Amino acid sequence: MIQKLINFFRNMIDNFLGLFSSDLGIDLGTATTLVYVKGEGVVICEPSVVAIEKETNRVVAVGDEAKKMLGRTPGSIVAIRPMKDGVISDPEVTEAMLKYFIKKAQPRRFLTRPAVVIAIPPGITEVEKRAVIDAAEHAGARTPPILIEQPKAAAIGVGLPVHEPGGNMIIDIGGGTTDVAVISLGGIVHTKSIRIAGDEMDMAIIEYLRKTYNLMIGERTAEEIKIRIGSAYPLEEELTMDVRGRDLIAGLPKTISITSVEIREALADTVQAIVDAAKSTLEHTPPELSADLIDRGIVMAGGGALLRLIDRRIAEETGLPVHVAEDCSTAVVRGAGATLDMPAQMRRRLMAQAKLDF
Ligand SMILES: Nc1ncnc2c1ncn2[C@@H]1O[C@H](COP(=O)(O)OP(=O)(O)OP(=O)(O)O)[C@@H](O)[C@H]1O
Ligand SMILES: [Mg+2]
Repeated sequence: MIQKLINFFRNMIDNFLGLFSSDLGIDLGTATTLVYVKGEGVVICEPSVVAIEKETNRVVAVGDEAKKMLGRTPGSIVAIRPMKDGVISDPEVTEAMLKYFIKKAQPRRFLTRPAVVIAIPPGITEVEKRAVIDAAEHAGARTPPILIEQPKAAAIGVGLPVHEPGGNMIIDIGGGTTDVAVISLGGIVHTKSIRIAGDEMDMAIIEYLRKTYNLMIGERTAEEIKIRIGSAYPLEEELTMDVRGRDLIAGLPKTISITSVEIREALADTVQAIVDAAKSTLEHTPPELSADLIDRGIVMAGGGALLRLIDRRIAEETGLPVHVAEDCSTAVVRGAGATLDMPAQMRRRLMAQAKLDF
């Protein structure tokens, strides 16, 4: 009871002081964390990586700086990714990371706690939601932070008419998860989330080079290969790239030349899993909404949507028009940010499904 009263007054004071703080939208991604400041736009877009000194557990670096250390740290420092498969796998480190980003997003506003809208994967459990909420509260967000499912935020971010009665389909390929959702009237009609996305593509490339060339490469190199020559559909002009790694037999550094055809083959299973998730969602979509999709098509978001010709591949397999959203990597955070400007009732409708019931 007393705690409730304290919370009530605390919120009242926060709401008042909120007049002097800027509210935030956050996309807490497996690969990238983005922060949107109301009235300013996307101010932070950094890798979800934290470097920690092993002995003392002290945070040494966060974001861009920490990513440079991945796989290259001396024994005393570890660079870790606290989010895995779209959810928090290390709550303490996630909290430290959020704290850093929230502070960085509002350098001059330490007086008060900002209202925060956080985009979460649609499939996460109540326990996982609790971990996000705790991390945000401890990191200085006003209580309670508002949660919105990522596909909804992405749909808002790319400007789909989510509040109207009509089917909208979005595919968000991130680092940890691919989320497919059909949205109508502000709600998710059907969604499928698979823990197969960009990271899995990187793993597939590592595995392919190891098996085919006995070449060992790290995650950063695998990602670079995917970005430089990866594709989901035959390219008009196929590409090649020199790759450096360690020869597994001789144990020495080695350079080989690989082609986009090979990398497409390495990515085949992952890409197929994403295509299948899209098809399965379509099979579960009510007929009226399916009919809408023939005209409106599918919109793709997330960094993984940048894989060459993935839109063409999905279009061919589903028979629907597919567009990659402009600025696809920031769609979720822009959508979360946009809810900060919505009238309360509209926002409540959007949040309904992400509400916590404990
Ligand atoms: N040009 C590109 N081609 C292919 N993949 C890309 C490209 N650019 C970025 N990516 C991949 O996109 C992924 C990151 O996307 P995004 O930032 O949307 O993920 P996230 O939101 O952090 O993850 P999640 O939504 O799963 O929590 C990474 O796997 C990255 O390698
Ligand atoms: Mg994402």
